[in-house]
Amino acid sequence: MIRSVITGTGSALPRNCVSNVELAERIDTSDDWIVERTGIRQRYIAGEGETTSSLATDASRKALEAAGVAAEEIGLIILATATPDHTFPASATQVQHALGCGGGIAFDVQAVCSGFLYALATADSMLRTGMAKKALVIGSETFSRILDWEDRTTCVLFGDGAGAVVLEAQDVAEDGPGILATRLHAEGAHKDLLYVDGGPSTTGEVGKLRMKGREVFRHAVVNLAEVLNEVLDEVGMTGADIDWVVPHQANARILDATARKLGLPAEKVIVTVDRHANTSAASVPLALDVAVRDGRIKRGDMVMFEAMGGGFTWGASLARF
Ligand code: UT7
Repeated sequence: MIRSVITGTGSALPRNCVSNVELAERIDTSDDWIVERTGIRQRYIAGEGETTSSLATDASRKALEAAGVAAEEIGLIILATATPDHTFPASATQVQHALGCGGGIAFDVQAVCSGFLYALATADSMLRTGMAKKALVIGSETFSRILDWEDRTTCVLFGDGAGAVVLEAQDVAEDGPGILATRLHAEGAHKDLLYVDGGPSTTGEVGKLRMKGREVFRHAVVNLAEVLNEVLDEVGMTGADIDWVVPHQANARILDATARKLGLPAEKVIVTVDRHANTSAASVPLALDVAVRDGRIKRGDMVMFEAMGGGFTWGASLARF
């Protein structure tokens, strides 16, 4: 059967790392508050010349190298981002140009923090229907540029970065690798709990991120537990069959609560929120790359991805690595 298999991962971070202590020198907050409420200890902030597409390009190069795939072989690039370089063209086209693999399909997907899950599912469908053979699926964000640095309830939570995977259509056995099941959801009624107060068709300005964190938190724990169970039910598995969960990295307490609901020990959850903070669509592929490169996630492991973000949008995807 044809499945979409992750054959390489890569990630990229801006040069500038900012600790909680450094933030507390400029904003009315403290290292203790941020660590206790979120688990975040530091974040990377994009500087001059570092953009969503440049970070995405760096992450993609590393993923291509890890997969042993040449840029010219890539027929599809899907970039998940809520912070594109420009309103248009899609940042994916700029990544395509920088990598030197023009001519194939390239577009952006906008599902905020769930963007990588949406992009992965879209690429999976396109590969399985033969629209391309090899794809780059990327999450890349520069949220620092849409933060209100006067609003301590949001600005301490986010960071910049990118993660990428090479996804290849392969003819595999039933027990072989690849994406096994995905479920995605959206519920637009909750827009006002997490949104950007601008945009080309409203204010004409880019706008700043606004979030009612406590309410988002409540929805996240419920929605994530539900969608994880939907995916497990679809493949007839339980939490005990999962080797690793690679979650969206918004808050260490959400990660703990979700793992508890699934009956998963904390050691099976890949946590990078402490060093990257919330990098929106980049957080899942960034965390995946960390855990692949440090040797935790190995070929054959059963890996669950999950995310929830603005919209609301949320989803989960299960893959045998
Ligand atoms: O990625 C998309 C999805 N996003 C999320 O999943 C985020 C979900 N939400 C969260 O992670 C948490 O709700 C937050 C980390 C955003 C906030 O944690 P919380 O435990 O829900 O805190 P809170 O908003 O209820 O605020 C508690 C207190 C407030 O003070 P009072 O009203 O109790 O006196 C805030 O003013 O903490 C205060 N506070 C801060 N204090 C120091 C809020 N931000 C800060 C800050 N430093 N940065």
